[in-house]
Amino acid sequence: MTDQTLLAPASALAPAPTKKVFVKTYGCQMNVYDSDRMTDALAKDGYVATDNAEDADLVLLNTCHIREKAAEKVYSALGRLRDLKKRKAGEGREMMIGVAGCVAQAEGDEILRRAPAVDLVIGPQTYHRLPEALKRVGRGERVLETDYAIEDKFEHLPAPDKAKTRARGVTAFLTVQEGCDKFCTFCVVPYTRGSEVSRPMAQIVAEAEKLVSAGVREITLLGQNVNAWHGTVTTGGEGLGALLQRLSQIEGLARLRYTTSHPRDMDDSLIEAHRTLPALMPYLHLPVQSGSDRILKAMNRRHTAAEYVALVERIRRAQPDLALSGDFIVGFPGETDADFEDTLSLVRSIGYAQAFSFKYSTRPGTPGADLKDQVPEDVKAKRLETLQALLLEQQRAFNESCIGRTIDLLLEKPGRMPGQLIGRSPWLQSVNVDAKGVEIGDIIRVRITAAGPNSLFADVVDD
Ligand code: SAH
Ligand code: SF4
Ligand code: F3S
Repeated sequence: MTDQTLLAPASALAPAPTKKVFVKTYGCQMNVYDSDRMTDALAKDGYVATDNAEDADLVLLNTCHIREKAAEKVYSALGRLRDLKKRKAGEGREMMIGVAGCVAQAEGDEILRRAPAVDLVIGPQTYHRLPEALKRVGRGERVLETDYAIEDKFEHLPAPDKAKTRARGVTAFLTVQEGCDKFCTFCVVPYTRGSEVSRPMAQIVAEAEKLVSAGVREITLLGQNVNAWHGTVTTGGEGLGALLQRLSQIEGLARLRYTTSHPRDMDDSLIEAHRTLPALMPYLHLPVQSGSDRILKAMNRRHTAAEYVALVERIRRAQPDLALSGDFIVGFPGETDADFEDTLSLVRSIGYAQAFSFKYSTRPGTPGADLKDQVPEDVKAKRLETLQALLLEQQRAFNESCIGRTIDLLLEKPGRMPGQLIGRSPWLQSVNVDAKGVEIGDIIRVRITAAGPNSLFADVVDD
């Protein structure tokens, strides 16, 4: 001990008092990943995560702007938080409120204007500046941090320690690419996440290795257009296919996935990876949005329905076991009954294992918002109902087709009943199994015995 520490006041030697942060996540998987990274960035300043806003010193809303409803949720949550902040202030407890994510990026000024209780607005490109921004809030400023940062945020965002990674589970997300240059005419993402940026390979591999050394068995690579990832891979090749090949060499990493892909970026090497890499799960989320060429053109998707079908056929030739998932929008401006019929027939010809479908939501600032021929709400609702019934039927059929199959199951968490565990199938289904002498993170052989619409049941197979 030096004289200096002996002379230091007691308070300087005591550990920093624990502060609590409550993060509420809306939207896509990238927001889930970002929320964890923000929590990790705050850990250095003595913040621990809480799942209760009531005892939080800081509440962060990580928001989504994709549809009107998603964005509206933020303002109603802020109304409730304003009341909580006021009540706590009356009891002498301070609570800061921060808004992050895509609504923060798109409507930062408006949030500060409409919600005076908000102390901080921070966009997705600047999360590494969060600790500094909070210091400014501490000095009494209201902070708006929505510039596109010039520095690489990922370089500056700290990684979690092993214990924290393990506590988050045996599956993990890893963002490899962010932003989008596609400008589909309905979509806000190019405006909220900025233009496409790929993380360098070495940074991705290092993060993946760290996750695996903490016990992660399955990694899902994330990007708004993950298959647009561009970079040179030192073990050979370029692009996402080569990156997957490199990651599959990490010992202990059993499974790889990636999402979300754009049909125009499914290149040969990525398709080949589905044939050659056992670690790459036979599951692909490949949104098509519509089955009508007219609408696809108006959406600026830059491919036809026939091209999509042909692409799926090629991928299925490489990986016959592939389960396909998709996104659909009904009621894009100008969509007629005949266009909608084309969507239904595309769905019938593909056969989806899972899908997400939405009513078109007009987003300010996107080209779609200015189009005439907006489709009436009741027509959208009817079409959505019809489409969802078909997609649900396909999902059931896919789940039922799994009955009798023997598969590898990655055990993820305890089930509801004693002795029961919940695992994940190669096709992302939740599977309930009774198993003894196994641990979370193990991959076991099971036979599927029954199927519900959302989960499967299985028995252990003794090899
Ligand atoms: N990058 C992905 C999609 C990201 S957004 C892709 O290109 O496929 C996720 C999904 O939200 C989209 O696939 C689309 O189906 C839906 N979506 C996006 N904007 C929408 C809007 N304005 N109205 C309704 N759904 C929308
Ligand atoms: Fe949005 Fe289209 Fe980009 Fe997907 S590809 S994020 S739908 S603009
Ligand atoms: Fe929503 Fe932003 Fe993700 S708008 S879907 S949170 S990229």
